[in-house]
Amino acid sequence: MIELKKSTDFAGPEGPVVLVIMDGVGIGRNPESDFVKQAETPNLNWLHDNALYTELRAHGVAVGLPDDGDMGNSEVGHNAIGCGRVFEQGAALVGKAIASGAMYAAGSVWQQLVANVIAKSSTLHFIGLFSDGNVHSNLNHLESMLRTAKQQGVKKARIHALIDGRDVPPTSALEYVERFDAFLNEINADGSVDYCVASGGGRMNITMDRYNADWDMVKRGWATHVKAEGRTFTSMQEAVETFRTENPGILDQDLPPFVIVRDGKPAGPIVDGDSVIFFNFRGDRALEITKAFEADELTEFDRGTKPDVLYAGMMQYDGDLDVPKLYLVTPPAIDRTMSEYLSSAGVTQLAISETQKFGHMTYFFNGNNSGKFATETWQEIASDNCPFEDAPRMKADEITDVVVQAIESGAYKFIRLNFPNGDMVGHTGVVSAVKLAVEAVDENLGKIIAALKKTNGILVCSADHGNADDMYELDKKTGGLVLDKQGHYKSKTAHSLNPVPAIVYDPSGAAKAHLVDVPKAGIASLAATCLTLLGYEPPADYAASLVKVG
Ligand code: 3PG
Ligand code: CO
Repeated sequence: MIELKKSTDFAGPEGPVVLVIMDGVGIGRNPESDFVKQAETPNLNWLHDNALYTELRAHGVAVGLPDDGDMGNSEVGHNAIGCGRVFEQGAALVGKAIASGAMYAAGSVWQQLVANVIAKSSTLHFIGLFSDGNVHSNLNHLESMLRTAKQQGVKKARIHALIDGRDVPPTSALEYVERFDAFLNEINADGSVDYCVASGGGRMNITMDRYNADWDMVKRGWATHVKAEGRTFTSMQEAVETFRTENPGILDQDLPPFVIVRDGKPAGPIVDGDSVIFFNFRGDRALEITKAFEADELTEFDRGTKPDVLYAGMMQYDGDLDVPKLYLVTPPAIDRTMSEYLSSAGVTQLAISETQKFGHMTYFFNGNNSGKFATETWQEIASDNCPFEDAPRMKADEITDVVVQAIESGAYKFIRLNFPNGDMVGHTGVVSAVKLAVEAVDENLGKIIAALKKTNGILVCSADHGNADDMYELDKKTGGLVLDKQGHYKSKTAHSLNPVPAIVYDPSGAAKAHLVDVPKAGIASLAATCLTLLGYEPPADYAASLVKVG
């Protein structure tokens, strides 16, 4: 049992401490592309002027990513917020395991997968997100694995490509196709191996569902990758170009599934004896397809006869459930999360969001573990399965209703919630909807503030990374906004590199809180900040609290 010491400066507020994560709401640099600034946000404006307000880093090394060119994301963001420290994360750990050769070493899972296909003259399959977004995956990792497979005598490899456009520019698929075709031409050139793309589709259409929001996506992915059922094309380029002609304006992330045929036959169904690597390192969108490959019984959809394959994930996706059974790289050893400390101290906690971000507030927040600590209550509000640009309020009102009731009930000392709007609508690239999304968050923040005033609680409000604050493409060299041929700004669907706000509002003033200078402060400081405001001394190795009390 880990122990949390009571503070001698402040006994904690009468009401609860409420941590609001405004997903994807950062602080923009370009007013034209900043739809947080363009939205009407009276509550955020008021807090900016009247509460304790500072900015936090939410990207790059401040959240455990390989470098400061990497935008933040919800996994690393919620890990940092919930664990109070910065751990090296998937992108960095896989990169290092590849560079050092540890991933391929004797006795490794990689060696088992290779030995299996060599012994059975079968196929090595790779399924994963086909980009260099570094949020769920990186194409460099796939290319390294294919090169190594060739060196180690794997004759046949098949790639099942999930097209991105969500962590990279919205219609960039063909850039990756071109790069990868050149790579395949080179690796196949001496005729000793047969490596090709076998199937694929947009990542928001097949395979990469999360938090059980829409298992039909996984069902479609299974039919496409495993059974090789679906519309056929002779190349990925042909598939992408055809879909775009048929549906002008379609975003890469939404592209329909496709199966590649060669000599009139599907190029790579997954069959008995094959090895399969799901090469995403991030877990949320990997857990369902992993279950489809691993579970003896599957109730979520009829997968037909499950092929007898050796399946591995790039990383362990859930440390509590030990999923998947086999994985290539060991995840960061995240321990002593804020939830665990608060549980040991007997502090009642409520975690809440809607489906799309529910696991962010539970599984990611608790260090990629799905287990619940003793004093935690988790509440999920069901998300709609619809294009979020058509429903930009999402479930913000419903989440708030529960939160306000929870504040007023006195049943919880610590409440944490995520409003997904800024991020989920930000990913659609539809700026008019993004404005409405941010306004919904602001309006609901107002209701939470009112409840905290009534109960003498304290608000801590921040974000996991930016998105809605940076809705147009930036020129990598000049940092200016990119124009398309018609002179319009090019919409952007990915996260931003911007800092995020950190607000502490204590309406009763009981905490006598004031900001302290934390050099290069990042969102990992939010854990110690919440613990301080709850009346505890943060653990010595947690990133410093943003406030002092008493
Ligand atoms: C996604 O999975 O939707 C995106 O790749 C990243 O978004 P998130 O990190 O905000 O979940
Ligand atoms: Co996002």
